[in-house]
Amino acid sequence: MFIFALANQKGGVGKTTTAVTLASGFAQAGLKTLLVDLDPQGHVAFSFGQEKTAGLYRWLVMEEPIKDVVQTVRPNLDILPSDKNTEKVKRHITLMDFRESLLKDHFKRLKYDVVFLDLAPSLDVLHINGLITSDWVIIPTRLDAMAVDGVKEILLTMGEIGQKGHQFTGYSILPTFFDRTTRETITQFQEIVQTFGERVLPPIPQDTRVREAPAFGQTLWEYTPNSPAITGYQNGKSKAGGYQQICERLMEVVYG
Ligand SMILES: Nc1ncnc2c1ncn2[C@@H]1O[C@H](COP(=O)(O)OP(=O)(O)OP(=O)(O)O)[C@@H](O)[C@H]1O
Ligand SMILES: [Mg+2]
Repeated sequence: MFIFALANQKGGVGKTTTAVTLASGFAQAGLKTLLVDLDPQGHVAFSFGQEKTAGLYRWLVMEEPIKDVVQTVRPNLDILPSDKNTEKVKRHITLMDFRESLLKDHFKRLKYDVVFLDLAPSLDVLHINGLITSDWVIIPTRLDAMAVDGVKEILLTMGEIGQKGHQFTGYSILPTFFDRTTRETITQFQEIVQTFGERVLPPIPQDTRVREAPAFGQTLWEYTPNSPAITGYQNGKSKAGGYQQICERLMEVVYG
């Protein structure tokens, strides 16, 4: 089982969109996939047109079996939803002795090929639990003046977790809201690449269709498969970026 976390303490950078799109992409490719919502906002369930539930709370705190708390939303794709009860999970973890490994320990019993953890934009015990559980961290970032700083923050946190003995297989930085026509995007993209080099994935174009899809309970593959966010942008004769290409790149991470 390979576990990805989507993390950035900054809000609204595309974590949930990326988690939903990649998880549904991997499921379509035939991998048994679980998407876990670690954010009390509960946007994962909403993205699939489902009710928010206390799935995460019931699994981690009430110790209910995973099969009773997940929702199967597509072939090969289960989601473990969150709602405001996820706040109680944090309180529960804070009162525990082995507080940092609650989530990780629960995963030992599961049988999925790949898991995506959608983290909240916060730095609390559940965020740390999410990072400690993951093999590979995907850091979505907008291309604004604070982008490099936001990425450095999360790498700092990962470094601290590494010192506690957790081994990450690796991480990737995913530029989002890429707009080829604005100078700031281009400048910030260049700066990100200069700073983080090979770790930077091809960017996801800004695309209004992305914003519309959740209201229809559809993934981007279903709602708008030919839009730039999926197919990428034209780069000379070839296309670059887009969730299709990101799926392919991360598939290589899973299969080596
Ligand atoms: N490439 C894109 N182009 C245009 N809009 C996008 C794109 N990616 C995401 N969005 C929209 O931006 C908003 C924020 O995205 P999303 O919810 O994925 O971010 P997030 O990092 O999970 O936010 P939070 O920190 O609140 O959890 C959503 O309305 C989403 O539909
Ligand atoms: Mg989110």
